[in-house]
Amino acid sequence: MLDIAAHLITLILVLTGIGYISCHYRRISNEIRPTIMAILLGYALTNIFELFLAYTEQPIYHLLISYPNSVIPMLLIGGLLLSIQSSEREQLEIEQQRLIVLYNIGNRANNSLDVEEIARNTLSELLEATPYSGIALYLASKNQEYLELIWSEGLFKELDIDLSMIAAKEIYFTFSILNSDIISLSGPEFCEKLPLCTKLKLAGITNVLAAELSSNRNSIGILLFIANNDIAISDEQRSFIGSACRWLSTAINNANSVDDLRTAYFKIALSFSKAIEAKDPYTRGHSDRVATLASEFSSYLGLDKQQIEKVYIGGRLHDIGKIGIPGSILNKPGSLTEEEYDLIKEHTYKGLEIVQPINHYMNVTDIVVYHHECYDGSGYPMGLSGEKIPFLARIVSIADAFDAMTSDRAYRQAMSTEQALENIKKNKESQFDPLLADHFINMIEKKKINEDSVRITADELATLIGEVFSNAEEAAG
Ligand SMILES: [Fe+2]
Repeated sequence: MLDIAAHLITLILVLTGIGYISCHYRRISNEIRPTIMAILLGYALTNIFELFLAYTEQPIYHLLISYPNSVIPMLLIGGLLLSIQSSEREQLEIEQQRLIVLYNIGNRANNSLDVEEIARNTLSELLEATPYSGIALYLASKNQEYLELIWSEGLFKELDIDLSMIAAKEIYFTFSILNSDIISLSGPEFCEKLPLCTKLKLAGITNVLAAELSSNRNSIGILLFIANNDIAISDEQRSFIGSACRWLSTAINNANSVDDLRTAYFKIALSFSKAIEAKDPYTRGHSDRVATLASEFSSYLGLDKQQIEKVYIGGRLHDIGKIGIPGSILNKPGSLTEEEYDLIKEHTYKGLEIVQPINHYMNVTDIVVYHHECYDGSGYPMGLSGEKIPFLARIVSIADAFDAMTSDRAYRQAMSTEQALENIKKNKESQFDPLLADHFINMIEKKKINEDSVRITADELATLIGEVFSNAEEAAG
C-alpha cells in the first residue's frame, strides 16, 4: 500500500509539473522545452506503469487490456502532447505572420525616400499585427524639443485632443528611467510615468506603448500605440515592435540623408542659377519667377505635393545650362545669328549634364531638357511633339514663356499681362499644350494678377514646395 501511495504522490507531482510547464510553455526557451517535457512525460509514464504493477502485480500490457481506467491518464498525456503541438504550430503561424509584416514594412519603407510616404505605406499593416487600436509616428523637431506628428492611423484619428506635438523630454525621460527603448503603460500606473497619459486618459485611452526610433544611437522619434480596452502585450509582441522600429528607423534615416543631399545640391544649383542671372541682368529673377508661377500653376491643376516640388526645382534650374553659354551671346541686344542661336539651344544639354548626377534624388532632367519643345514638334532639342513632351516640361514651358514675355529683355520691352495671355492663346497647339494653355490663361485671369504681382507669398510657397527647399534657399542667400 505504501508503494502505491508513493507512486500516486509522485505521479500527481509530475502531472502538476507538466500542467505548470504547459501553462508557461512559451516562456521556456526553445532549446530546453523538448528535454524537460520528455523527462517529465517519461517519468509520468514510468510511474503509471509502476503504479499498475504495484497494484495488480501483472505486466503492463495485461493491465491495459484488463483495466480500461488505465487508458484515461494515457489519453490525458496524449491530449497534453497534442495541445502543446498545436500551441507550437499556432505560435509558428503567428511568428510567420509577423515576419511577413516585417518583410512588407522593410520592403515598402525601402522603396520610398519620403518619410510621410513611408509612414502612410507601413503604419496600418503594423497596427494590424498588434493588439492596439491606434498608431502614430512622431519625429523629433530640429531643436529636439518636440516630437512632431507625421502620420497616424486607427483610433488616433477619432481622438478629440490635439496630439500634433509632444514634449520630447518627457518621453525620453521615461525611456531613460525605465531603461528601455519600449515602454508599455496600463492599469493603475498608467498616468504615473508619462505625463502624456493624463491627456490620453481624458480621451478614454487606457493603454499606451511608446517605442523609440533611433539612428546611430540618437533618438529620431517614436512610434506611439494606443488602445481603449484591456490588452496584454507579450514579450514576442514587444520584440516584434522593436524589429519594426529598427526597419522604420533605417528607412527614415535613409530618407533624411537623401533630403540632406537634395538640400545640399539644391544650394549648389541655386548658386549656379544666381551666377547665370549675374551674367544676364535681363533675366534676373526669371528662374525664381518661373519656378513660383509654374508651381502655382501645378497647384491650380491639382498636382500632388511631390510633382509641385519637382516643378519648382525644375523651374529654378530650367536654364542652368546657360552657365556654359558666353555672356556676350546671352546679352546680345540685336537678333542672333544662326550659329549663336544654335549655341543658345545647347543650354538644354548643358543643363542635363549638370542635373544628371542627382537624377536619383531630384529628377528634374525632363524639365531642364525639354522646356523648349513645342507642341507641334517645332521646338528643340529633340523636336518632340504633343504628349511625347513630358507633362511637367509642358507646364514649365508656359510659365517660362509668360515670364519672358512680361519681362524687359535686351532686345525688347515687356508686354502687358493681357498681351502675353493673348500670345499664349494664339500659340496654343503650335507652341503650347492647348489644354494647359487654357488652364493657365484661366488661372491668371481668375487671379487678375499683373507682371508685378505674379509671385505668391513666401508662406504659400513654403506650403507648396515644402520647408526643406525654402530653408535651402534662405541658406543659399
Ligand atoms: Fe531655356
